[in-house]
Parts: sequence; C-alpha cells; structure tokens
Amino acid sequence: AAPSWTETTDVCVIGSGVAGLTCALNLRQAGFHVTVVTKVHIDDGSTRWAQGGVAAVLDPHDTPEAHARDTQIAGVGLCDPAAVDVTVTEGPERIADLIHLGTEFDRDPDGSLQLTREGGHRARRIVHAGGDATGAEIQRALHAAVLRDPWIRIIENAMVLDLLTDARGHAAGVSLHVLGEGVEHGVGGVEARAVVLATGGLGQIFQSTTNPSVSIGDGVALALRAGATVTDLEFVQFHPTSLYVAGVQGLRGRPGASGPGGGTKAGSPELGPDGIPGDRHFQDAHAVRVDQQPLISEALRGEGAYLRDFTGDRFMVGRHELAELAPRDVVAKAITNRMIAEGKPHMWLDARHLGRDMLEHRFPTITASCRAIGVDPVSDMIPVAPAAHYSSGGVRTDLHGRTSVPGLYAAGEAACTGLHGANRLASNSLLEALVFAQRIADDLAERKPSPGVPELPEGEGTVCSTTSRAPLQEAMTKGAGVLRSESSLEATAASLTALGDNVSGRPRPATWEATNLLTVAAAVTAAAHRRRETRGSHWREDHPDAADAWLGHLCLSISSDGELETTW
Ligand code: SIN
Repeated sequence: AAPSWTETTDVCVIGSGVAGLTCALNLRQAGFHVTVVTKVHIDDGSTRWAQGGVAAVLDPHDTPEAHARDTQIAGVGLCDPAAVDVTVTEGPERIADLIHLGTEFDRDPDGSLQLTREGGHRARRIVHAGGDATGAEIQRALHAAVLRDPWIRIIENAMVLDLLTDARGHAAGVSLHVLGEGVEHGVGGVEARAVVLATGGLGQIFQSTTNPSVSIGDGVALALRAGATVTDLEFVQFHPTSLYVAGVQGLRGRPGASGPGGGTKAGSPELGPDGIPGDRHFQDAHAVRVDQQPLISEALRGEGAYLRDFTGDRFMVGRHELAELAPRDVVAKAITNRMIAEGKPHMWLDARHLGRDMLEHRFPTITASCRAIGVDPVSDMIPVAPAAHYSSGGVRTDLHGRTSVPGLYAAGEAACTGLHGANRLASNSLLEALVFAQRIADDLAERKPSPGVPELPEGEGTVCSTTSRAPLQEAMTKGAGVLRSESSLEATAASLTALGDNVSGRPRPATWEATNLLTVAAAVTAAAHRRRETRGSHWREDHPDAADAWLGHLCLSISSDGELETTW
C-alpha cells in the first residue's frame, strides 16, 4: 500500500529484541540516527523468553576452536566455517559489551562469571542471568540503554509491510501500518539509507512453539517479497523439552498419537461482525494469546536432570555419548520416538535429585512455570515434549549482515548467516545476534550509504483472511513438523494452497500478518519437500539418512510472476 505519511531516519531497524536493539545502539556509536520499528511492544519478542544463556569462550580452559568444533558438529556439515569463526572469536568481546551496558550475569562467589553447559557443548561456556532468566535481563539492559539515547526513535505497534527501494534497487525504507500513539496512524513510511531486519523467528507457523505470538517470520516474508534470497528454511529446530500442558500440546492430529486433538486455543482471534478483526483486536490478540509453550531449559539437563520414559528408563543413556546432553535434534527425535512407541503425548524430565535449593534459586522461572500447572519439580517429574523453537534458516547474509538486496541487512533469528547449519547449537543464537549486530553497524559506518528516493509501491495486493491462522498451524504441525515425509509435505502444501484462496477484502495489520504466515509456511514446506534426506533438525521419515549429495543449501525466492522458487 502507498504510504500516506513519511518520516526520515538514517537506519531503520525492524524488531526490538537482542539483534535489533544491539544494532540500534551500535549504529548510534557510529553516529547514525536510528528508528526502531516494532510490531507490538518493545519487549514482546523472543529475547526476553531466552532461559539458558549466551555461549562464549570465557573459561581459560576453553578455546574458540573447541566452541567452533561443537558448533559444526551440531550443524551436521552445513555450517559456514567463516561465520563460525567470527562468531566464536568475537563472542567474548560482545559479552563484555553487554556487561558494560549494565547486564548483570550470574557470578560465582569469587566474582567470576558462572558458566553452565547445554546440549552439544563439551565445555562449560554458557553465561546466564537471574538463574534461568537470561533473556529477560539482557532485554532489560538493552531497553534501558535505548531509552537513554534521544536519537533512537522507537515506533511501537507498527506492522511493517514492505521494503521500499530507490531507482537503483537499493533499500530506501519501509512501509508500515502504525496503530500506536505519537505518530499518525495508518499506512506510512520510514525513509532510510539502510534497513535492518531483526524480526526474530517463525515458530508460530506451528501449533506448539516456545516462541511468542509475534514470531511469525515477518522478516522472511518481507525479504521474499523484496526479492532477497532466503535459505535453510527447512531447518526448524524443535526444542526437546518444552513444558507439556495437557490440552495445548502434543503430536496433534497425527494418526496413532495419543495427544489431544487440535482444539482451539484461548486467545485465538474472534472475528468482528465483518469477519475481520479490528486494530484494537490486533494488539489485544498479541497481549492475550497463550499459544506459547514454557521452555524447560537445556541448562536443567546441563546441571544433571534426566530424561525418563513412562517405565522410568533413562532412554538417552547408550543412545549418544553425551546422553541427555546430546545435540537437541538427537534428543528431540529420541523423545518423539518414545512418545510414539509408548503412545504418550510427552516424556518426563526428572530433576528431583537436584534439590529444592538448586531448583528454586538457579531455575526460578522453570520452577514457577511448573508449579503454575500443578507440577512441583522438587517432588514431581516434569512432563516435557518437543516444540518448535528456532529457525536456523532465514534471510541469507554475508559476514557483514548484508542480504542480496543492497542496503538491506538482517540479524538474529531472521537471518541466516551460516553459523547454525542444519541445527543450531544451544545458546549460540543470542551470541550470533550480538556479533552480527556489531558487524552490521561497522559495515554501515564504513560504507556511509547516501539517501535514496523511495519508489512508491503500486496497487494494494491481496491479503489473507485471519481465519487461516489456526488451520495453517494445524497443517504445518501435521505434515511439516518434527516428522516429515513426501506425502505429509504434499498434503501440507495442498492445505496451504487452499488457505491462500481465503482472501480478505480489507488490508489490516492482522490480515497482513496472516499473509506473512502463509508466505513463510509455504516456503518452509517447499524447502522441506525438496531436501530428500535427514540432516540436523530436518527429519524425513522416507529418507532417514544424511546423504553427501545434499551437502549444500536450498535458496528460496519469489519470481517476477509471484511464484515461490527453490534453487540449489
Ligand atoms: C535453553 O535454554 O534450553 C534454550 C537455549 C537455546 O535455545 O539456545
């Protein structure tokens, strides 16, 4: 849609989690004026939910080479060695920056940073805060720092629609629909010399996810429409241990699974008289949705918790040398297989032997989440099941965060820098966001892009009805979730195509969101269909082994006639 108002900045950052806010702060150090645009409220992204911590080489016995090796083993042959190298090498400095900014990490009695382990790490290298509230502490510190800087403008309640480009094809801003106060409402534009996508993940394309309701892959959808290359989308990581809440979670809809059928969720959109939710509803829907599963951090297994099946057997022992601390794809598959074999909607995590003191002080968030559903981890085993957690793929970038569209950058979960390969190593995500946010600021400081004149978009396009969200999530979970096959993916693709016919006459933020969900779900399904092997977090029942012929990356783009194309 054509903007009816505009404002101008140097760099427009879309998203306000660790990637977006760090990038904004670093850009200010380089002298740029920055506008941060965020879909609902500044703290509503995934960052504040991160529990485990940030991985970095901080122990004198650890080395960047060891961290690189663990990252590459988890990534099963698809990590870009250069991206791994810069991340593990620059990581410790970025942790120091966070501390300088006021982030309070947990420390040992001697004042040194307290380090823990998580799946796939062969050393203690995870810094954490507030026990298991690391993301919340980082978000607090970044938010406070951003508020201290009058040259960082924040626009909340703003749904970003499309990239604006100039006559050279260079990013020149974004169009957006603002619902908040302090700026004119409706569709407007922010003109900028460069745009940074830091919109987070896409877990909400599935029924069961640890991601908040805003995480629907807006950046990936925008990038695809803008002609940018998106890659590795088939690698959606399912966290092995989200808290199983009866009636909300499980292998829903899969024949033979004993999980509850895919019922409606509290907070699902209710339609207005015209069948379309209004503006108010868009904000409220994000405020009240409960379709996010509480995470049970790997750090709990890092401190010694066991996985058990319904007979009490520790089924990870003997399956992998690291047992419960195997890379998370290995653990997620083992849990899923046990759930199917035993016909149960979850397995158990046994942390009782860690004791009350450890559980209440080191893991206060987890203990509170469990107690909220009547499970006391001091005396009860915790019901756990895999849930969509992290997209290892995203908008393809180089080592400076540049995408294939000049002037468009991407960072954090929205990006695919090449660090994660087929499966992200635990706690490497906050680290990657910190490292690449700095690299983007350095690159822009060096390039000093000149302002361009955005060309106005033509026509309005069509948008999907908001009623497609629940059936889309169900189709994705059934056919493109933890377990995938040719036929399940084809069935999902057909369901998505049918949902695409369900158009809405009235473009609103909620209908643009529905449109983005469909774009992203179709892209994930297409990539998963094309990759006929099992590798990392991509698990094909009909192609159960990894094959060397697939040691490469699938790129997705939208052709000039609007078709989604996958190239190898
Ligand atoms: C966790 O705390 O288990 C999650 C850490 C991560 O996803 O990196």
